[in-house]
Formats: sequence, structure tokens, C-alpha cells
Amino acid sequence: MTPNAPDGPGSGSGSSPDADSAAGRGISRKSLLKAAVAAGAAIPLLTGTVALARDAVGQGSALPATPDCDDGDGPTHDQIEGPYFKPNSPLRTNLVTSGINGTPLTVSGYVFGRNCVPISGVLLDFWQADNAGNYDMSGFTLRGHQFSDAKGAFSLTTIVPGLYPGRTRHIHVKVQAPNQPVLTTQLYFPGEPRNNTDTLYDPALLMNVRGAGSGKEGTFDFVLNVNGTPGGPSDPPPTDPPSGTWATGHSYTAGDRVTYNGTSYTCVQAHTSMAGWEPPNVPALWRAG
Ligand SMILES: [Fe+2]
Repeated sequence: MTPNAPDGPGSGSGSSPDADSAAGRGISRKSLLKAAVAAGAAIPLLTGTVALARDAVGQGSALPATPDCDDGDGPTHDQIEGPYFKPNSPLRTNLVTSGINGTPLTVSGYVFGRNCVPISGVLLDFWQADNAGNYDMSGFTLRGHQFSDAKGAFSLTTIVPGLYPGRTRHIHVKVQAPNQPVLTTQLYFPGEPRNNTDTLYDPALLMNVRGAGSGKEGTFDFVLNVNGTPGGPSDPPPTDPPSGTWATGHSYTAGDRVTYNGTSYTCVQAHTSMAGWEPPNVPALWRAG
């Protein structure tokens, strides 16, 4: 494949979503403000034209998830991942590495379940084009994954992605709550001329974007088709005794129990251990007990 080929329909990456049903869905989401406040989440003052999930007051019933591509009433629209996804991206929230030029951009927000509860420990894996519209297929430039924090929040430091033929401006992301299916989607920028012609574009996936000094700040809240519970949707009960001492290079699955420096920990998300991911350092992967 060529680096500049569009990752739209027909490029070998999957089916096309129903773009027609997307019109107008972005303005109908109800609020998660109450849930976020109840969870102690810091609510930044935002301005913009796009409704965030947290912005409208909760209605006392199940939260309408960000729509999917079929019926307009499902979870966040499952956009194709495009041909440029690479697994095993670095764990980092800042993608601006040496040699990266462009307009500084931060993207932040929360991950919620449909029951209005923020979800912690959600894996968010971002990848995007550089300022010239090229993806790094030989390395991991402008690629990185992170986990939502205890309040369900995430924050990404990057640059505004460049345009490439066939697509409007966008950032790719895979979002996965612990032990839940992966949502593959894309985030879009308001006011982009190509939003009107890109068949993958969905207004429900628009970020709020505002100027911030010499850069920009984008905001988006994901709503996954799961019910969030404090501490994660699927924390396994710590019923089994620790099976050994934590070690690097081991494939742990949720529910595995280990000891580290004399303390017992339970794995809350499947991963392969590595130096720096010792249980006390990565609460998204391990919790004491
Ligand atoms: Fe792309």
C-alpha cells in the first residue's frame, strides 16, 4: 500500500459505514454532567458548537450511546480502522516526539458507559497522520496508547493531523473497556471543508475544537456500549490466591493474581508485562488485593 492512499471504502480495510444515517445525530446526545459530577470528575469550561456527552443533563435513564453506523442509537460509531493501524504502540500520552512539526493539539475527554458512569482503565490507542498527511509505517511516530484514569478521563498531546487524498482531517482511535469489545473509530474536526465530501465522516464524531495559544484543544467523550461501574466494568473478584511473583515478559489476563514486593495484586486488564509496568506503577493494569 502507499502511504498516501485513502483509508476509505474500497481500500481493503473493511466495510463502509452508513454515512447517510449519520446526519444530525451529533446534536441529540444527552448529558452526562450529573454522572461526571457524581464521579468527582473535573468539568472543564468548554465552548463550541458540538454537544459533548457530559454537557446535557442526565435524564434519569440509560444514556443514549454515541450512535453507531447502522441504527443511529448504538455506541460510538464504529468507523473502519483504515490500513494504517499497527499493534503494540508505545504507552504514552504525548505523541510529539523529536522531529514532529505541526500545530500543537491536545485531545481530552472522558469514557462513559451507557449508564452514565465513567469507566476507568479503558485502553485508548491513537494513531494519526503527520503534518504532511503521512503515516509512519516503519515505526511508531504519532502512535500511542494510554488508559483512562480513575475518573474515566484521558488526555492526548499531539499535533493537528495533515490531510491526505480522499479523506477529511481525522484521528484514529481504538477504545476498549476491560474485557469488552474493541471500538474502532475516528475523531473529526469542525469546519473542515472535506467533512462535506468524505463518506466516512460522521458529525457524531466531531470534537469540540478551540484555539489555545498557538495550538488547539479538542474535546470528545466516548460512550461505550457497556455499563460502567466504579473501578471498571468487569473487575474480577480476587478469590484466587496469588499464583506467583510478578515478572516481566509474562502474559497476564484479568483476574490473575501475583505478589510484588510482598503485596498481592490482581490483574484488571490483559497485557504482557514489561519493565516499568510493575503493579504499583500501573493501576490500570493491577490493583492491590
Ligand atoms: Fe487515516
